[in-house]
Amino acid sequence: MNKQKRIVVLTGAGISAESGISTFRDSGGLWEKYDIMEVATPEAWHRNQALVMEFYNQRRKQLYEVQPNDGHYALVELEKHFDVQIITQNVDDLHERAGSTNVMHLHGELKKVRSSADEDLVYTLDGWELKAGDLCEKGSQLRPHIVWFGEPVPMIPAAAELSSSADIYVIIGTSLNVYPAAGLVDYVRPGTPIYLIDPSDLSVGHIRGLTMIREKASTGTKKLVQQLIK
Ligand code: APR
Repeated sequence: MNKQKRIVVLTGAGISAESGISTFRDSGGLWEKYDIMEVATPEAWHRNQALVMEFYNQRRKQLYEVQPNDGHYALVELEKHFDVQIITQNVDDLHERAGSTNVMHLHGELKKVRSSADEDLVYTLDGWELKAGDLCEKGSQLRPHIVWFGEPVPMIPAAAELSSSADIYVIIGTSLNVYPAAGLVDYVRPGTPIYLIDPSDLSVGHIRGLTMIREKASTGTKKLVQQLIK
């Protein structure tokens, strides 16, 4: 009975690519169209709140137009056989909508907003549009519940703990460019099988015990799940 085996899955934008959500660093990615410093930093929020609000409003609006893909659904299938814990860098809700039950959002969630005065006041936004004048219960402007560049990643200790508890580690659709998320693989116990699913050729030679599956998330994850279930 595999149930007691724990599979920890670290996902990035690539698992949502086939659902139609842009990745960040592929050609045509978000950071080709927008300057990170203009839309994804606390300084940007202070300098041009309307532009930052609009950037996240557009991405949040898109959530209503996309669906999970076979990569997300394969991870739900995996839950029938293993203790599956997902650590995602993504801010979309596709893992949850596919039916995954243990999802940790390292970089926040598009559908949530929070007080700009008290980070513990987090709300689920009704609809896709956050507007100037939408205030928290303490009267301060609500902001996207997103970890911006230069801000701390509060979930990292929990994610590191999870990574060190994995019996099998799976990395799907991340360029492993952004720390501290990219450093989570260092917490995986030596000798733990690590699988990496990505269509491009990432320089991951430094990761010991790694099996590279050079496929898109939809087909690669399905294949891996079938292999693990056997
Ligand atoms: N299936 C699987 N992987 C894919 C697919 C696909 N269909 N298409 C692209 N990829 C891979 C790319 O090859 C790349 O390795 O997904 C990865 C996407 O990398 P990034 O665009 O850098 O996205 P990510 O790694 O999630 O970025 C991390 O950076 O901008 C910040 O906070 C943001 O969470 C984000 C973080």
